[in-house]
Amino acid sequence: MADNKKMQQAKAVKNDEFYTEYGTISDEMGHYRKQFEGQVVYCNCDDPAWSNFWKYFHSNFGSLNLKKLIATHYRKDTEPSYAMIYEGGDDFNMSAGEVVPIKGNDGYNAGDFRSDACVGFLKEATVVSTNPPFSLFREYVAQLIEYGKKFIILGNQNAATYQDIFPLIKENMIWYGASIHSGGIDFRIPDDYEEYSSNVFVKDGKHYINLSGIRWFTNMDVKYRHDGLWHRNGKFDNTQAHCYYEGNEDKYNPDEFEIQTMTKTPIGNEYRMLIFDKQIQHNPNGTTQSVTKANDGAVVEITKPLHDKPYYSVQGKIYKAIYPRILIRNLHPVKKSEDIGY
Ligand SMILES: C[S@@+](CC[C@H](N)C(=O)[O-])C[C@H]1O[C@@H](n2cnc3c(N)ncnc32)[C@H](O)[C@@H]1O
Repeated sequence: MADNKKMQQAKAVKNDEFYTEYGTISDEMGHYRKQFEGQVVYCNCDDPAWSNFWKYFHSNFGSLNLKKLIATHYRKDTEPSYAMIYEGGDDFNMSAGEVVPIKGNDGYNAGDFRSDACVGFLKEATVVSTNPPFSLFREYVAQLIEYGKKFIILGNQNAATYQDIFPLIKENMIWYGASIHSGGIDFRIPDDYEEYSSNVFVKDGKHYINLSGIRWFTNMDVKYRHDGLWHRNGKFDNTQAHCYYEGNEDKYNPDEFEIQTMTKTPIGNEYRMLIFDKQIQHNPNGTTQSVTKANDGAVVEITKPLHDKPYYSVQGKIYKAIYPRILIRNLHPVKKSEDIGY
């Protein structure tokens, strides 16, 4: 295997080993208390010996009125592993539960969420909750959708712009959870974690990393969705045939707005105004080149050329690249943007 590929794989494995703090989990799960009643919760990327997902659902088993809790331990080698199953009775004794041996199959290690044993538990589960390996996020979500499961899982907000995840957000099949909308979240990391960047720190002899851009992804309804407007970091424009708003999908209220498309990867061509003609990229060093950047990525019009970053000229107008934006349609449009307080 080429060295570069090996390094990328090693990095992906390392980045998958971020362990969620108990408080991060309890802050989110508190929003769904009623919906947990009678559910079979499955944590499928969680060693019950230390996972805080196991700990949270085990210690709150009675108060959430759960029916069953299952966790499976993933092995990085080809050895057998185990599932732990708890059906109540001794909530504060974390080792209370039945240990069931599991094996891998067809190239999947024991405890791999794609292995037959884990798919068997998945079928039985009604709610899945964990922090899955980030490198397998797409496959992980696809499996939850395929099996029609309710879920509350952690991921990186960039995942919302993936070609296979964004359509699920657009169709209201996934949304962000209630508790995290900005800032950084602390995760425990292995103590031999080698990459000492500014967001890695040691507390009580344990190593942590503070990561920004973390969000809960869920398909369980949550009150805030019906209260909030979109995060107002964009512009509302009622002058177009359709009202649209450049916003991100934080605090998306499905009663008020409908997602139309995303500027990074336009879906359909309802927003042809986003497809630009021939574009010239102007580089800070004075060179120019013909590009399609403004169609592949999101851009906004600017009034003055940039000197520190590239900008793009198209038909007498100039633009700069921005982060992908979600375009939404207001289901109850108003006449002027000022009417809604912008
Ligand atoms: C981001 S960590 C989170 C661990 C735990 N869920 C938590 O939140 O503390 C992801 C975990 O998934 C495990 N894992 C990696 N690949 C897996 C797979 N194919 N199936 C199940 N678990 C996997 C990793 O070993 C790692 O412990």
